[in-house]
Amino acid sequence: MLTDSFGRGHRKLRISITDRCNFRCPYCMPEKPRWMPAKALMSGDDIVAMARVFVTELGITNLRITGGEPLLRRDVVDIIAGLNTLRGEGLKRLSMTSNAAQLARHASALSQAGLQDINISLDSLNPDQFQRLSRGRYGPADVIAGIEAARSAGLGVKLNGVIIRGYNDDQILPLLNFAETHAVELRFIEFMPLDDEALWSRDRVVSAADILNTVGQFHAVEHLPEDGAPARRYRLASGQQFGIIATVTQPFCARCDRLRITADGRLYTCLFGREGTLLRGLEGPALNRAIHAAVGRKPAGYIAEPGYAERDVRMYHLGG
Ligand code: GTP
Ligand code: 5AD
Ligand code: SF4
Repeated sequence: MLTDSFGRGHRKLRISITDRCNFRCPYCMPEKPRWMPAKALMSGDDIVAMARVFVTELGITNLRITGGEPLLRRDVVDIIAGLNTLRGEGLKRLSMTSNAAQLARHASALSQAGLQDINISLDSLNPDQFQRLSRGRYGPADVIAGIEAARSAGLGVKLNGVIIRGYNDDQILPLLNFAETHAVELRFIEFMPLDDEALWSRDRVVSAADILNTVGQFHAVEHLPEDGAPARRYRLASGQQFGIIATVTQPFCARCDRLRITADGRLYTCLFGREGTLLRGLEGPALNRAIHAAVGRKPAGYIAEPGYAERDVRMYHLGG
């Protein structure tokens, strides 16, 4: 297993397969992103070969495909099918994170190719607000169609809502209500200082405490035991569960078990890391050595502060 200098073992690998996105969420992307050159992107075969090393030789059990928006890649179903061949070799969970705007037409093929679950971003049910947050030509109805298609295809679904003061802080209860009606789990996410337009400030962070306070005004909220995931989990009297990913006010770095690879084949051991390790083009013992060395340098954690976006790699390159 890949263990870092603080004794943290790593079971989860997030692989970004493209930095392109059909949204321009201001908490993630500028209006004019700096795309990776197309020729720098790993091919589907490169991605599967890289994942094979992590699963068969390095103890990774959970793979999550991210973007940008992974559904923009034409070979996304082939990539999932390729990764699914690692099932007998140590792979336990094959997941994706998507904005779901185009999921309705892909859900069934993805499920058949071996995808098990999908985390879907949904920050607002209000069309105007959704537009302001996604800056695209899609609306909540497209995402809802994606959610329904995913459910019908048998995929596990979790919703992600990033709550930003002054943007969508009135959506906490509507999103919770929506999740209950659609029988899916919702995780609220604290706004992290990883945007590209200096939008982040402490004042804009709606903290886990703020969220619990808002929900608590209308519901009795029971805290559930931690299960190691990034989200702290809660249950309403109705039985509906929800989570909060409180990276800013309650970082989970001490329990971090994740690594990430960008679409151009760089390994980042931390979401907030400044430097990646180029793995693309390496193989055999050289690849193993590079991965072990990078994991050995993984930092203990980070402190949320403005300026984290001032690095070469951006949120949309890293896939969250
Ligand atoms: P599960 O395995 O379903 O729990 O997935 P996940 O929550 O890790 O993945 P998802 O892509 O849905 O990410 C949800 C939020 O958690 C996003 O805002 C991510 O940026 C954040 N997140 C995921 N992994 C990490 C991490 O290692 N560190 C930090 N700080 N945030 C993370
Ligand atoms: N803060 C918190 N979450 C973010 N995401 C993207 N940018 C940020 C940010 N600055 C979330 C998206 C998506 C997940 C991969 O990361 O909403 O659900
Ligand atoms: Fe695209 Fe996701 Fe970033 Fe929004 S958060 S711009 S959907 S990659």
